[in-house]
Amino acid sequence: MTIHIGAKPGDIAETVLLPGDPYRAKWAAETFLTDVRLVNETRGMLGYTGTWNGHQVTIQGSGMGMPSLSIYVNELIRDYGVKTLIRIGSCGGMQDHVKVRDVVVAMSASAISTPSQAIFREFNFTPCADWSLIEAAVKAAKAKGTTTHVGGVYSSDVFYDERADLNEQMVRHGILGVEMEAAELYILAARYGRRALAVLTVSDHLTTGEALPADQRERSFGDMVEIALAAAFDS
Ligand code: HPA
Repeated sequence: MTIHIGAKPGDIAETVLLPGDPYRAKWAAETFLTDVRLVNETRGMLGYTGTWNGHQVTIQGSGMGMPSLSIYVNELIRDYGVKTLIRIGSCGGMQDHVKVRDVVVAMSASAISTPSQAIFREFNFTPCADWSLIEAAVKAAKAKGTTTHVGGVYSSDVFYDERADLNEQMVRHGILGVEMEAAELYILAARYGRRALAVLTVSDHLTTGEALPADQRERSFGDMVEIALAAAFDS
């Protein structure tokens, strides 16, 4: 047990999928895993452990934004010894060729600030994903026929962004999508020598304004969960 995770030692698998939304953790675990058991409900941030193709896996909500994700990832790594962490979430598309429903595999994550800023101070550390996970995720996405883009994302601290100019610069520099967690996940994985990746479904588009209809969100989310699971155990 940690401050924020009620699971007993051994209740958490070495591989953890991290949706922001705890109810997505419940849905993904009940849909894709067998022998599922609830391992955490502290603060309603649900976590489940089960089996996928003979492998133990935990799906744990991370909450929204990097400060929340940082709490869960620190405890998962330092107290439960988690080795592979894959964020599964949504992002806003930033390039014309990145369409709603596509999947973005985040090779790097740019940010204005992260919870680790106090360590790096004036240094611009580049948070980047684990290569073996990127490679396996792309292979799994291709096998499913999901349109997939690999490249940089922007991990923002705000959903309701007042800095239109900043988004313009991100678009200009080829950033594929905006979300709110990947950069700190990659930094923590680097600090502790673990593997991390973010696999993201494009749920809306910043320039076209298109958004995934509510009734199609589950299906797109499911594709992403399957890609993340395949990547975790094929790498
Ligand atoms: N901004 C930040 N995070 C997001 C967005 C967005 O537009 N869409 C999905 N996650």
